[in-house]
Amino acid sequence: MTHSSSVVDGNQFAVHLSDVWKMFPGVVANAGVELCVRRGTIHALLGENGAGKSTLMNVLAGVYRPDRGQLKLHGQVHSFRNPADALSAGVGMVHQEFRLIPSFSVAENVVLGSAPSLIQPRQLEAEVAAMAKKFGLRVDPTQPLWQLSMGERQKVEILKVLWRDASVLILDEPTTVLTPSEVDELAEILRRMAQDGRSIIFISHKLHEVSGICSEATVLRQGKTVATSLDMAATDAAELARLMVGSSPVAPDRPEVATPGDPLLELTELRASGDRGIDAFSNITFQVNSGEIVGIAGVAGNGQRELADVIAGLRPSTQGSVTLNGADVTAARPQQRFRAGLAYIPEDRLGVGLAPRLSITDNAILRIYRQQRRGPFIVAEKALAYCKYLITRFGVRSGDPGGPIAALSGGNLQRLLVGRELDGQPSVVVAAQPTRGLDVQGVKAIQDLLLDQRKAGAAVLLISEDLDELLTLTDRLLVMEGGVIRGEFDPRTVSRHEVGMAMLADTNATTR
Ligand SMILES: Nc1ncnc2c1ncn2[C@@H]1O[C@H](COP(=O)(O)OP(=O)(O)O)[C@@H](O)[C@H]1O
Ligand SMILES: [Mg+2]
Repeated sequence: MTHSSSVVDGNQFAVHLSDVWKMFPGVVANAGVELCVRRGTIHALLGENGAGKSTLMNVLAGVYRPDRGQLKLHGQVHSFRNPADALSAGVGMVHQEFRLIPSFSVAENVVLGSAPSLIQPRQLEAEVAAMAKKFGLRVDPTQPLWQLSMGERQKVEILKVLWRDASVLILDEPTTVLTPSEVDELAEILRRMAQDGRSIIFISHKLHEVSGICSEATVLRQGKTVATSLDMAATDAAELARLMVGSSPVAPDRPEVATPGDPLLELTELRASGDRGIDAFSNITFQVNSGEIVGIAGVAGNGQRELADVIAGLRPSTQGSVTLNGADVTAARPQQRFRAGLAYIPEDRLGVGLAPRLSITDNAILRIYRQQRRGPFIVAEKALAYCKYLITRFGVRSGDPGGPIAALSGGNLQRLLVGRELDGQPSVVVAAQPTRGLDVQGVKAIQDLLLDQRKAGAAVLLISEDLDELLTLTDRLLVMEGGVIRGEFDPRTVSRHEVGMAMLADTNATTR
């Protein structure tokens, strides 16, 4: 364990947390955490999912009271009873879920709860505009919030905190809702805030994001500080990854170039409606060949989810065709598609992929039950044996196979779901956001399974919002925007920026 030097005067730190403990029933979320943040710097708080980052920041922001520990701001000891206490001491937090009112304007959202009601709306808007300009936050204060993209909403949350004159700003995984160019914009905004003398804590579990932005880092692992006040300039990604995970390197090697075989999945002029009855996508034509991974990049809500559902037979198409292994399955039911060799890893794991009320074993056999349909009875022993086999083969960490599926953690749920779908060698795999929300080791495990499928000759379609994942794993990369394919790229040579531009095509026209 590395501790910050205790010789230096605590006054130079904007934030100094020492020996912070926070327990929840059955979990020690923070176990004696140390964190020092220098004034006027951008500090990375790193750690895998579940490491205790959000809990620690909720302690700093007055949302949780620590069971033990000391909290100093600019050398002075504080004890917050609630978030308002923390705000008045200068600590503001932008949470992972935004807390904004859709029907209010940007300016109204920014000042809500803190502006004297006497001020005229015009004047408020002008003041909010001035503040936004100072920090390079491009938003229109008069615009109603519902018209804003996620990236713009985040700016409103940042403005809210600045408006209350926070000197310490906490951003909890701010980049998850942003496109690559929005990430660059955020970095610039944070730099301006630091130059203004404010201190920023930037939470992330993605290393590359913080490296260009933050000067120092603290790494948490299983609720403990494994390093604090790490100099980012003197630390490389491999070292940070090792600190976060505590074991060997994590990034999968770029796979060798595949020699694709026959087309196993063919979409022709495909079109379908979304939930509101208007086109979710149209004119989709591409094929995925044996032994290749084709990626679909895009900002959420541009038709990817509906496309995956149409391929799986869970949503009807209104035009065009879907061919699996040379057979037209456009009108086939999901079960028929499964029997024709399709594996589907849906985005909505607990809604579509798993039955939350059933046991781990019952969930494990859902797919073979669908495929074989040998009468209504399933021999319990066989079911249990199969479940245990999946658990072992795919490294699911679970207690009792008879226990509820909901008892599994996110990473183990996904291992079970993906394992179940991939067992029995499908010829076509459609995976939608398969690694979302998983920790570093979980991500690696799932990515390795997809690479294995490719090696075994399956045609893999990977739909993901994680551009790095797509650039690392895929052989060809398509970008979907506004329900159409905006471009096809070679992931070995294309830049993040180029893909980002294609992902954003026309958004200015649609959000204004
Ligand atoms: N409100 C809560 N109640 C119970 N357990 C919680 C709560 N918040 C977090 N935890 C648990 O505490 C641990 C740390 O979680 P969290 O601080 O959210 O981690 P991180 O933000 O690093 O992903 C996890 O095991 C999580 O399940
Ligand atoms: Mg968190």
